[in-house]
Amino acid sequence: MSAVTAEPNRGRVVVVTGAGAGIGRATVELLVAQGAAVVAVDLHDEALAWLADAGPAMADVIAIPGSVTDRATNDAMVAAALEAHGRLDAVALNAGILAQGDIGGGSMDDFDRMMEVNVRAVALGMKAALPAMGAGSSIVVTGSVSGLRGDSGLFAYNASKGAVVNLARAAALDVAHLGIRVNAVCPGPIRTAMTEATEGRTIGAAMAARVPLGRFGEPAEVAQAIAFLASPAASFISGVALPVDGGLTGGTGQWATHGGRSAGFS
Ligand SMILES: NC(=O)c1ccc[n+]([C@@H]2O[C@H](COP(=O)([O-])OP(=O)(O)OC[C@H]3O[C@@H](n4cnc5c(N)ncnc54)[C@H](O)[C@@H]3O)[C@@H](O)[C@H]2O)c1
Repeated sequence: MSAVTAEPNRGRVVVVTGAGAGIGRATVELLVAQGAAVVAVDLHDEALAWLADAGPAMADVIAIPGSVTDRATNDAMVAAALEAHGRLDAVALNAGILAQGDIGGGSMDDFDRMMEVNVRAVALGMKAALPAMGAGSSIVVTGSVSGLRGDSGLFAYNASKGAVVNLARAAALDVAHLGIRVNAVCPGPIRTAMTEATEGRTIGAAMAARVPLGRFGEPAEVAQAIAFLASPAASFISGVALPVDGGLTGGTGQWATHGGRSAGFS
């Protein structure tokens, strides 16, 4: 049982994958601001160069370059936490990729790659982290609203995110007796490199109009949910898939939103 505290992540040791950009970077920044000790993982040194560029604020963050699809990277991130801090309190398994394609014409190479990064690597991360974790520890997976419903033209991404959301639920049941929690956050459209191709285009406006709050989310807004679930403030929450989507999945999709009607999408 956790004590009530205003700074639930202070002193906690947390690994974040996909930390080079977008939601992962925002999560590192928030956790550091909350007083956590952070290990940041991304594909290569250049992706993590922002940590050095940020100066003293990020000086204590440990950068681990490598692909989460490699067992060695997952082992290295856990070893780094244990060597530097003697324990591991939370992992945010956030790295993910997206490629478009529909069930008719989409590439099975893309399908395999998304399953490898978005699902298999998350299972690898869990397997690496769990032996180092004890009661009160937390695993947070970045799923997606695309893991809760389907999208046209995203069949492989939908399949991978649906799988990783259910992986998180199953893992939550497996480790609950150890006092370890596992949850997924499910972002709607968020302003990152993954969605930047929609910016300034009709498709981007149409996507924003479908969100009841009328806009894309910011990476920092997803980071808030990840940091909460990683912390003891969420001590009785496990096995959930938490939408961070501006109300998107609260609707049936039958009707245009209020903002959408104003924008002419009626
Ligand atoms: N942006 C959105 O609208 C949105 C919506 C729902 C879910 N998500 C999910 O959020 C997560 C973060 O995405 P984002 O929007 O911040 O995207 P992003 O592209 O800005 O950041 C993803 C980061 O993951 C890293 N990465 C990719 N493959 C990796 C690998 N094999 N090993 C290590 N690092 C790797 C990339 O280098 C990049 O820095 C992903 O799982 C994504 O599927 C994003």
